Amino acid sequence: MKLVIAGGTGTVGRHVVAAAAARGHQVVTLSRRSGHDLTAGTGLREAMTGADAVIDVTSVLTLAAKPSIRFFETVTRALSDAERQAGVGHHVALSIVGIDGVDAGYYAGKLARRRILELSLPGRYWRAARSGVLRGTADAPRGTITFDDWLESPDHTRQR
Ligand SMILES: NC(=O)c1ccc[n+]([C@@H]2O[C@H](COP(=O)([O-])OP(=O)(O)OC[C@H]3O[C@@H](n4cnc5c(N)ncnc54)[C@H](OP(=O)(O)O)[C@@H]3O)[C@@H](O)[C@H]2O)c1
Repeated sequence: MKLVIAGGTGTVGRHVVAAAAARGHQVVTLSRRSGHDLTAGTGLREAMTGADAVIDVTSVLTLAAKPSIRFFETVTRALSDAERQAGVGHHVALSIVGIDGVDAGYYAGKLARRRILELSLPGRYWRAARSGVLRGTADAPRGTITFDDWLESPDHTRQR
């Protein structure tokens, strides 16, 4: 599969990129370091062409609601617009365990992102929701954390 991994150079993203590449997937990484500023939304058409799925593990360094909302809304709109135009079938966004109902600070941006995805990509959006703080576990042996454990659709919002 061709996987577009937004934020693929980050703390989480580099492990996602490594896991996808190890499974033989074609990976396109989107980040400023790889020449794509998702707040500007440019150059996405080429990246999305022929893609099977987008995995969004971007983030912004803030604890405040306003910049978090601005970042996640802008990036999510840019990605979902480009995905719709290219006919990409799936979008996975990494959430945070326990985030539901905490519409404040950094979390407010992540909840804003979810609202946009539910409207803009109905039926195509899955969130990886069992994720707590990963800094201590990101180097866990491959197989300790599996995507199958994490994924849930918006129609099944209860965490497993
Ligand atoms: N880390 C955790 O413990 C943890 C736990 C639960 C959930 N999560 C979630 O996982 C996701 C990733 O978190 P993280 O800790 O891996 O973040 P991170 O280390 O700060 O990485 C953020 C990624 O986003 C990219 N990025 C930032 N601004 C961008 C822009 N304008 N255009 C394109 N790419 C941009 C960065 O690359 P450039 O700087 O090159 O642009 C980088 O690849 C977030 O949604 C976070 O809420 C993280």
